[in-house]
Amino acid sequence: MRLSNIKVLCLCGSLRRASYNAALIHSLPHLSPDNVELVNFTEMSNLPLFNPDRENEMISSVTNLKEKVAAAHGLIIASPEYAHGISGVLKNALDWLVSTEAFPGMPIALLNTSPRASHAQEALREVLKTMSGIVVEEASISIPLLGSNLDTDGIINHPVISENIHRALITFNKWIVKYSETEGHVN
Ligand SMILES: Cc1cc2nc3c(=O)[nH]c(=O)nc-3n(C[C@H](O)[C@H](O)[C@H](O)COP(=O)(O)O)c2cc1C
Repeated sequence: MRLSNIKVLCLCGSLRRASYNAALIHSLPHLSPDNVELVNFTEMSNLPLFNPDRENEMISSVTNLKEKVAAAHGLIIASPEYAHGISGVLKNALDWLVSTEAFPGMPIALLNTSPRASHAQEALREVLKTMSGIVVEEASISIPLLGSNLDTDGIINHPVISENIHRALITFNKWIVKYSETEGHVN
């Protein structure tokens, strides 16, 4: 089956106002191929703390997250490292998705804004592997934003950084198309 319009859901693991990870996610629609629709999940801070006892409750932020994941052909995750671990914000969102049918087999690109933050990236890979997500390594890149003072416009207008992001998005797009053709994994 041919995919003409690819939907990618972006999850940001930082709630900080001047977050580099959020700035990066906001830059993506400006740097992506035309046939990719990037959706930013804006309710990370509204998700309650994960509690398996509440999994069957109608919680609008959780329902919204699950629906957006189900409608996506791929995920992009950008998240900080805190004390050598994954941010609690991101882990909480992923915990709500553990039992979601749509997650296994989901292609995921990891964008890391701090090349020194290797522990969280490693831990995140382990979590995603356990959830049967597929980390697309060719599309997962480190972008040295930490300490750069670049905001969204600065990222879009930086010749090297914007080109690297653009290439990663093209690679992710191609990977998803190829995967959908071989696995029939399309929505
Ligand atoms: C409490 C705390 C702990 C942190 N721990 C680490 C760490 O272990 N390793 C690291 O590389 N950076 C660490 N950092 C730096 C953050 O990862 C960095 O500030 C990052 O830019 C935050 O992401 P954001 O800009 O998207 O908010 C820490 C920052 C805070 C506030």
